[in-house]
Amino acid sequence: MNTDIAVLNSRFGIENQVVFKTISEDFLVVEINNAHATASISLQGAHLMNWALKGGEPVIWMSQEASFKAGKSIRGGIPVCWPWFGGHSTDSSKPAHGFARTALWEVIQTEALKEGATLIAFRLIQNDANHDGWPYSSELEIHFIVGESLRVDLVTRNTGETVITIGDALHTYFSVSDVRNITINGLDGCPYLDKVDGSEQKKHQVGAVKFDQETDRIYLESTEDCVIDDPGLKRRIRISKLNSESTIVWNPWIEKSEQMGDMGQDGYLKMVCVESANAADDVVHLAPGDKHHLWVRYSVE
Ligand code: BG6
Repeated sequence: MNTDIAVLNSRFGIENQVVFKTISEDFLVVEINNAHATASISLQGAHLMNWALKGGEPVIWMSQEASFKAGKSIRGGIPVCWPWFGGHSTDSSKPAHGFARTALWEVIQTEALKEGATLIAFRLIQNDANHDGWPYSSELEIHFIVGESLRVDLVTRNTGETVITIGDALHTYFSVSDVRNITINGLDGCPYLDKVDGSEQKKHQVGAVKFDQETDRIYLESTEDCVIDDPGLKRRIRISKLNSESTIVWNPWIEKSEQMGDMGQDGYLKMVCVESANAADDVVHLAPGDKHHLWVRYSVE
């Protein structure tokens, strides 16, 4: 991959709209600024770090204590979980949520779209390190359209000769006024696995999701839009998705945040993760030559 900023800017930069920069030693990001919105994405993990509508509050949460270092996942933004969600099913020495979020990706396309939005696409760079954890032949791309809404398409292609099985998630951290005062609609009636009580037994969501303690749930059979209703910021964030039947709702609350060490002072009050996923039993089997699109649109109402 070419990590030379000047080369990236000359190949993929768009004047006043797409600019590549270094934010700390060897940590490259691309900044997007168009008629509708601003965003930035790091090349490590193809990790969207922020997105805000022009004149609006940030939609995506980024921890004040996030570190931007090679090989370390970023606390906030949209980590890409792939090719498994959570712990590896048979080998606990493999990284949680897969390796895509800490791997380097290459830019493959940028385009100023007619509607005023910006398209930017990345491809995961396969190397020996990630090949150890995933000895299959596959290609992973992510396409962002940054505009009045944020559209993300995570595309897995099976380029090998055997069926592959993947889990994936867009582990999105949303910025909220106070997690204790928001509700999440769209999950009513869905069965869920409650990771906080360690229970294998499925519960069912009744009504909206509210927060007054650590929450870590994998909702199954979840295909409807989720809407984060935030009266404090007078906004609703709508999450619409395709080819995903699970949604993870996560807030670490006080103790877990302290253990994690990169959530920042009271950071847990200012965020909630609503992750569009294929998780738990909701994995995707891909025949040779097939592809899977995990597609999500985020919009503000
Ligand atoms: C969520 C999981 O998706 O991610 C949680 O459900 C986990 O159990 C959280 O704690 C954060 O994971 P990580 O690896 O980024 O600290």
